[in-house]
Amino acid sequence: MGIFETILRISILINFIYFGLVNGQNYNVLKFGAKGDGETDDSNAFIQAWNATCGGEDNINTLLIPSGKTYLLQPIEFKGPCKSTSIKIQLDGIIVAPSNIKTWSNPKSQMWISFSSVFSLMIDGSGKIDGRGSSFWEINLNTSERPTALHIYKCDNLTINGITSIDSPKTHISIKGCNYATISKINILAPEKSPNTDGIDISYSTNIKISDSTIQTGDDCIAIDNGSSGINITQINCGPGHGISVGSLGADGTNAEVSDVHVTHCTFNETMNGARIKTWQGGQGYARNISFENITLINTRNPIIIDQQYIDKGHIDATKDSAVAIGNVKYIGFRGTTVNEYAITLNCSAITHCKDVVMDDIQVTMENGEKAKAECQNVEGESSDSDLMRDCFKNSSTL
Ligand SMILES: *[C@@H]1O[C@H](CO)[C@@H](O)[C@H](O)[C@H]1NC(C)=O
Ligand SMILES: *[C@@H]1O[C@H](CO)[C@@H](O)[C@H](O)[C@H]1NC(C)=O
Ligand SMILES: *[C@@H]1O[C@H](CO)[C@@H](O)[C@H](O)[C@H]1NC(C)=O
Ligand SMILES: *[C@@H]1O[C@H](CO)[C@@H](O)[C@H](O)[C@H]1NC(C)=O
Ligand SMILES: *[C@@H]1O[C@H](CO)[C@@H](O)[C@H](O)[C@H]1NC(C)=O
Ligand SMILES: *[C@@H]1O[C@H](CO)[C@@H](O)[C@H](O)[C@H]1NC(C)=O
Ligand SMILES: *[C@@H]1O[C@H](CO)[C@@H](O)[C@H](O)[C@H]1NC(C)=O
Ligand SMILES: *[C@@H]1O[C@H](CO)[C@@H](O)[C@H](O)[C@H]1NC(C)=O
Ligand SMILES: *[C@@H]1O[C@H](CO)[C@@H](O)[C@H](O)[C@H]1NC(C)=O
Ligand SMILES: *[C@@H]1O[C@H](CO)[C@@H](O)[C@H](O)[C@H]1NC(C)=O
Repeated sequence: MGIFETILRISILINFIYFGLVNGQNYNVLKFGAKGDGETDDSNAFIQAWNATCGGEDNINTLLIPSGKTYLLQPIEFKGPCKSTSIKIQLDGIIVAPSNIKTWSNPKSQMWISFSSVFSLMIDGSGKIDGRGSSFWEINLNTSERPTALHIYKCDNLTINGITSIDSPKTHISIKGCNYATISKINILAPEKSPNTDGIDISYSTNIKISDSTIQTGDDCIAIDNGSSGINITQINCGPGHGISVGSLGADGTNAEVSDVHVTHCTFNETMNGARIKTWQGGQGYARNISFENITLINTRNPIIIDQQYIDKGHIDATKDSAVAIGNVKYIGFRGTTVNEYAITLNCSAITHCKDVVMDDIQVTMENGEKAKAECQNVEGESSDSDLMRDCFKNSSTL
């Protein structure tokens, strides 16, 4: 065998090993019988393709959802754990829900598309998930009677990149029980008046990074709920919507634990709230180590808001003797405009004051150019802006 032939053989071998290990196998939903005509129920084809993908022995297996087609799916669950060390969903086509609540196989299901216990899951591509939620919104269903579009449960090392999610019946993307997730360059869109259409909800999850995304919905752009810590959010264009919210926490006297939430370089464009922390009266536990830094406001209604004594119908019996502790909360570098005279509302409980609140470099004005004001109850903290925060901090520590 000549030297060139040897080199050729070796390079073919290297290529083979490379693609074998790195690219793994592709499983195309069209090869499993998906029609992609937007009319036929492709759920069964997707489940067959998922079975093959998840059961494949390679390191990385890819489920391909090709572009140029529209796939109709009924409520569907992609279950792990899988044999391969990681799974990629290459979403380039459009996935649609049944067009109307009447055509859902189970309109009471809590989720439309869900993944559970799939480790190192990557959902990537330029495709779209369309929840076609309007028929759910119109009939005023309870939140418990409407599905979340994409629910991801117990999936450590998750990546979501590039995709678009529109018009979910309820929350667009929920992440629960996941450690280490990176979500970037996604778009979430729903009408401003669509009810409870949160962009991304996070609960019982740690070390989550969300960045470089646009979220325009009828409710919270991002909500961080119980059991979450190490949540970094940056470069989010939020609005319309209700802002980025920690909570609601501690409903019906329950215990809540949220810590280390850092929100930087986000824009709140015509949102109802900006940076919000909301805990129920009578709750327990804590929300601490939270910061909002370098935030741009465009006609935001409530740019900075803490409500530590939230009450609402259906929960009126909550005890008034406890509250979720709120501490070490920093607001630094807010710029822009508000439509509310009070840009800052810190409504804390007399039982446990909000503690260690820092308010620095806040330059928020009203349409008429007047500087916005702050109103507070039971807050301890400090600020370099003695004018803005005058009468605000209980221990009156304005530097
Ligand atoms: C998927 O595979 C599992 C076992 O590997 C099997 O029990 C199940 O019936 C398969 N589902 C479908 C829809 O083929
Ligand atoms: C919503 O749920 C609550 C409690 O689960 C129930 O009391 C109420 O009747 C429901 N409302 C509607 C419109 O179904
Ligand atoms: C997550 O990734 C880390 C490092 O990349 C790895 O050590 C860990 O085993 C992974 N966990 C899972 C469940 O895949
Ligand atoms: C979040 O940001 C903090 C400080 O900037 C950093 O120490 C931490 O590792 C980041 N966590 C994640 C999950 O990105
Ligand atoms: C909130 O999360 C904490 C910590 O994960 C847990 O101990 C507590 O039971 C949770 N509360 C509720 C209401 O689920
Ligand atoms: C804010 O929202 C308005 C109306 O949706 C839009 O026209 C404008 O471009 C947005 N501004 C920025 C800076 O994104
Ligand atoms: C908050 O941060 C401090 C250090 O800045 C750390 O000691 C403390 O454990 C954190 N608290 C929580 C609940 O994570
Ligand atoms: C916020 O902006 C200031 C001034 O541009 C900069 O010094 C600081 O590092 C920024 N903070 C973050 C967390 O990016
Ligand atoms: C603060 O919260 C209490 C209890 O929910 C409420 O009665 C009060 O109106 C709130 N104050 C402000 C300024 O929002
Ligand atoms: C007021 O409380 C803040 C933190 O909550 C603390 O840093 C400051 O020293 C206190 N000021 C006074 C005068 O006690």
